[in-house]
Amino acid sequence: MTFPADHRAASASSPVSDLIRKASRIACEAGARLREFYAQGVETEYKGDVDLVTVADRAAEKLIRALLAESFPEHGIYGEEGTRDRMEGAYRWYVDPLDGTTNFAHGFPHFAVSLGLEHRGADLPAGQDGSLVAGIVYDPMRDELFTAERGCGAQLNGKPIHVSRAQAIAESLLATGFPSRKRHSNPNIHFYHEFTLRSHGVRRAGSAALDLAYVACGRLDAFWEFNLNPWDTSAGILLVEEAGGRVTDFAGRRYRLDSREILASNGIIQDGLVALFADMFAGRNLAPIASPREYAKSRE
Ligand code: IPD
Ligand code: CA
Ligand code: CA
Repeated sequence: MTFPADHRAASASSPVSDLIRKASRIACEAGARLREFYAQGVETEYKGDVDLVTVADRAAEKLIRALLAESFPEHGIYGEEGTRDRMEGAYRWYVDPLDGTTNFAHGFPHFAVSLGLEHRGADLPAGQDGSLVAGIVYDPMRDELFTAERGCGAQLNGKPIHVSRAQAIAESLLATGFPSRKRHSNPNIHFYHEFTLRSHGVRRAGSAALDLAYVACGRLDAFWEFNLNPWDTSAGILLVEEAGGRVTDFAGRRYRLDSREILASNGIIQDGLVALFADMFAGRNLAPIASPREYAKSRE
């Protein structure tokens, strides 16, 4: 079996560590498995109201779990589909075997494998973050492999990537996502509305890991979302930071892996976005928009 993007990562001029090379190979192998499931089509099951899961999510996590244990026997693994291995270890992989399950289940070709590695110093209390040291996001449909290692920059298929140089929200392309649980208690549609009116637009493509990877390589200028988990964000955060961007919560505070809010950008527009969040949470400066009822009058 060949993994084209993995080979490109390994043969690139930038030095790629053994750890990144091995983890990239694992992500590409899991991605190849997802491609097979995608081609044959899979049944959808429900974890919640609109929270979907498929046999592909579970099979990819099983494969990643086995391959990580083989390559990094000391490392812990925390996977979305339930893996909790060696949680006391000094290193911990956060695994999203299939980020973008809803897309996958509907045949919408935009999803990824996400592997983030945290180093947890000795005696670090359970609720405290260690340091993210490696991140891999692999898009099997485009054969795009995003990699980052702390202090070594970020790459796409082995070539260095950098966040965009957009100077203002008004000239930015943004992205967000919406939770699949407790949908009625989440206010994000208001932020979607406001940011849409103030930017070049807001994409809602359905994979948080790819949204972050796209901020890292400058395809997007910023991304925000409520209620993500470390398996969605850990790899992407390091990608953004190593590509020169910033990641905080909506108030501009240091992002923690258990934060219920993530705001990632090219860094240049971060403060402007934080100010807009503050305005919105305080109900200030909201752009008016016609209600369907008002609009209906113009249709008569
Ligand atoms: C989801 C995706 C989506 C985001 C959701 C996540 P999953 O992950 O990242 O973009 O909006 O909040 O749950 O369930 O497909 O792994
Ligand atoms: Ca996810
Ligand atoms: Ca998932």
